Amino acid sequence: MKAFTYTLIILAISLFAFACSKPNTETITHNGPAASPSPAASMPDEFAATRAIFKKNCSECHGEDATGGTKTVDGKKLKVPSLRAGHALGHFDEDFIKQITKGGDGMPAFKDKLTPEQINELVHLIRHEFQGK
Ligand code: HEC
Repeated sequence: MKAFTYTLIILAISLFAFACSKPNTETITHNGPAASPSPAASMPDEFAATRAIFKKNCSECHGEDATGGTKTVDGKKLKVPSLRAGHALGHFDEDFIKQITKGGDGMPAFKDKLTPEQINELVHLIRHEFQGK
């Protein structure tokens, strides 16, 4: 008789567990698609500050998506290269750092506006977000 009671208890527990596991599995499936972009969603956090710097200091010419193009800045027509393609892919990080720090050919220098760390992070942002490296 005792064994029967145990069996009942175990049965009840497993039924309970089964009943509970069902909504759980559902939650997991629901989270599935939401969870998969989350590594990408964690990028905006990693680069959030730098993206804001880019938006504020660079996007006027380079565009928020870094495709560049012909821009009129302060009444001057500027041909801004894409940071996604062309030469930008072949240039080294040091070239980028130099260009951002010292400017040139229509681009202002940022050495007094940004710290070397911020400039470094901008290069990471360009490589990562715009060039997928
Ligand atoms: C006033 C417009 C302007 C602003 C603002 C500007 N750029 Fe530029 N940028 C240019 C132009 C024009 C060039 C092309 C210079 C050349 O021909 O050498 C350039 C070139 C570059 C390059 C080199 C691309 C290559 O092909 O190697 C990088 C990297 C770059 N900019 C990043 C930035 C970043 C980061 C910022 C913000 C901190 C910024 N730029 C702000 C106009 C601008």
